[in-house]
Amino acid sequence: MNVNEIETYLSEQKRVLEQALPGFIEKLNAPNVLKDAMSYSLEAGGKRIRPLLFFSTLKAFGKREEIGLPVACAIEMIHTYSLIHDDLPSMDDDDLRRGKPTNHIIFGEANAILAGDALLTYSFQLISEMVDDEIDATIKLALIAELAKAAGAEGMVGGQVADIEGEGESLTLEELEYIHKHKTGKLLAYSIIAGGLLTNANREQLDMLEKFALHLGLAFQIRDDILDIEGNQDEIGKPVGSDTFNDKNTYPSLLTLDGAKLKLEYHISEANLILSDMSIDTEILGYLCQLVASRNK
Ligand code: IPE
Ligand code: IPE
Ligand code: MG
Ligand code: MG
Ligand code: MG
Repeated sequence: MNVNEIETYLSEQKRVLEQALPGFIEKLNAPNVLKDAMSYSLEAGGKRIRPLLFFSTLKAFGKREEIGLPVACAIEMIHTYSLIHDDLPSMDDDDLRRGKPTNHIIFGEANAILAGDALLTYSFQLISEMVDDEIDATIKLALIAELAKAAGAEGMVGGQVADIEGEGESLTLEELEYIHKHKTGKLLAYSIIAGGLLTNANREQLDMLEKFALHLGLAFQIRDDILDIEGNQDEIGKPVGSDTFNDKNTYPSLLTLDGAKLKLEYHISEANLILSDMSIDTEILGYLCQLVASRNK
């Protein structure tokens, strides 16, 4: 595939995802304000990098992408919930997300918290309700269990707590790596591992996918830290300088901007090395790696 073909493929998958998301919210029998708050952040845009990684992993194994649509929506819902909560006054206290006022600015804090709760819980329902002859109960169970681990105390939530606890403290690189691996790496890695689970990948392939994905996840958050300094607010759709204002530990704050860029390159090249050792069609995953490294939004 050439670059144009890959970009067409990715924008088509993004379109499929964005067409499916509203339907899942519409059919909920729930208070309108809750559905509105859920839809508001879900449909505000975003790069949809996690669902795209998931679909691209399915494609790498030669599996049809439609089969995983509920999983892709579930991942995007958990990610969106994490953003809604991350922006709350008690957390990063940000008022702009995906180019729009944050959820709590529009719906109030209580509804923002509850919209996040509802997106989180709904994501597990979506996976458990998947119907397709190709997906048996064991796979669904594995998809749910791994998602719970990636999003919960041993994953994203643990990382978010460590991130907040570290505010104003000077952390070691190892401690900072724990934060980034967990608050961002685990869910991003799940997007890739879930593709492997759904295609019945063997243990060795799953291990390689996981290693690849953790390097990519770390690289993703390092780029996020860099964009918090040198990004453009209109492009990234969220405030620049939030980390500095909140006295966060970031790769640039620990290693300097140049040091952070070197670390980013290191993790991207490790990720690419693993891809080159895999016997699946990794072309699009490789393209996404480059995108993560150089993204401006
Ligand atoms: C932002 O994630 C939060 C992090 C985990 C770094 P994204 O950069 O994927 O945000 P959207 O989904 O494109 O808005
Ligand atoms: C947040 O990291 C990661 C999660 C939301 C889990 P950041 O706090 O750096 O994300 P942004 O920069 O607000 O998107
Ligand atoms: Mg944060
Ligand atoms: Mg934040
Ligand atoms: Mg950030």
